[in-house]
Amino acid sequence: MTANINRSLTGQTVQVDLEQHVPLMPGDELRSFVQRFVAQRSRYLDILQGCPPPVYVLEGSVLRERSARFQAAFRSCLPEVGFYYAVKSNNHPDVSRILLQTGMGLDVSSGLELETALGLGAEDVVFSGPGKTDQELQLAALNGDRVTILVDSFGELARLQQICAGAGRAVRVGVRLTTNASGLWRKFGIVPEKLGMFWAKVQECDNLRFQGLQFHTSWNLSPAAQIDFIRYLGSILGGLPVAALDQIRFIDIGGGYWPPQGEWLQAAGTSVGKLKMELGQEPGSPYEHYRLPASAIKLFAHQISDAIHESIHSVVACRICVEPGRWLCNDAMHLLLSVVDKKEDDLVITDAGTNAVGWERFETDYFPVINLSRPALEEKACHILGSLCTPHDVWGYSYWGEEIRIGDILLVPTQGAYTYSLRQHFIKPLPRVITI
Ligand SMILES: Cc1ncc(COP(=O)(O)O)c(C=O)c1O
Repeated sequence: MTANINRSLTGQTVQVDLEQHVPLMPGDELRSFVQRFVAQRSRYLDILQGCPPPVYVLEGSVLRERSARFQAAFRSCLPEVGFYYAVKSNNHPDVSRILLQTGMGLDVSSGLELETALGLGAEDVVFSGPGKTDQELQLAALNGDRVTILVDSFGELARLQQICAGAGRAVRVGVRLTTNASGLWRKFGIVPEKLGMFWAKVQECDNLRFQGLQFHTSWNLSPAAQIDFIRYLGSILGGLPVAALDQIRFIDIGGGYWPPQGEWLQAAGTSVGKLKMELGQEPGSPYEHYRLPASAIKLFAHQISDAIHESIHSVVACRICVEPGRWLCNDAMHLLLSVVDKKEDDLVITDAGTNAVGWERFETDYFPVINLSRPALEEKACHILGSLCTPHDVWGYSYWGEEIRIGDILLVPTQGAYTYSLRQHFIKPLPRVITI
């Protein structure tokens, strides 16, 4: 199907393709995903004996299993690799605590996260992020034995030197490289072409020890973007003086690994759905679910390592660091809600609102809402809405279960990444976290 769009300024007519190209989610995979949670329903329901809904449930065993799997994938193909959990993806201290126990370090992006990391006893922390304040740099400098500072700009470098000189401290530093010098991603780091100049500046800073560099690309469904940058970085490293290469102890290749189940979308979350809405049309049926596939972590690890061997280790034999967030914590946290009101057969209101996830996630992303009180492997149309005073407070357009009644307990699974951290104190109190 195509649509003609008139561009009023030019009088031009443009034809756009409105065919849905995102594959539908395979029904049997979705059913077995739901079945996994239904099979454990008494485990989740038992939690509510001591604590009424709504709650976030954090599963330590899932974090441990993910950490082991992630580390094994990269260890099997890189000689020396360091793992740093990206705290921003889920900033509940239990998540960091458990991942520290699995041998990971922490990647923090603010003084607040750094305080959490230090309070948890983390011994190996990387601190990156734009616009670090003097106070944040001071805290990092005072804990220089545990923190490597990934400097974001030439200005930050000068401030850090001054702070360290004032405090009589020496710290390890790296530098963040921007992966895209145009658009909004340019706010991160320095352009790679200035790496040599940056290294020379660090040599003039008596209190700073240059140790390496970092980059990060986001939302990678495959390793393509990481590999492209690694290859480009290889060419930049090739142009550095030997003295600079000799100082590089690590290259931190960031996070951005998409979990293997891929990205699950409502029609409204697909590009065609968005276009249709712009044209005043319905995006598609809310009862059809779509999935953008993602690469397995072993494939990420293999292909990225191949690129590293070819483009980086051929120039500098250094440790490789990775900063996974979403991949580790996405599946480790779920929400348990209850039905407070049933206004129609196909319209219920829950006790919690989507302030618990911090954004209007479920208008575009699909996650099954599972009725643990009346389980069935059938999906039924029903508006499942939260109790905030906004129509955008949507959990889903359907539920999995036999039927739905007031008092039923609903599970919204795998809400561990960029939801808890983004929770908002808006209208309703926030759910408690129960770690199991
Ligand atoms: C520098 C840096 N490292 C790691 C991450 C973690 O990314 P993800 O949770 O997608 O793995 C982020 C996320 O924004 C980041 O900015």
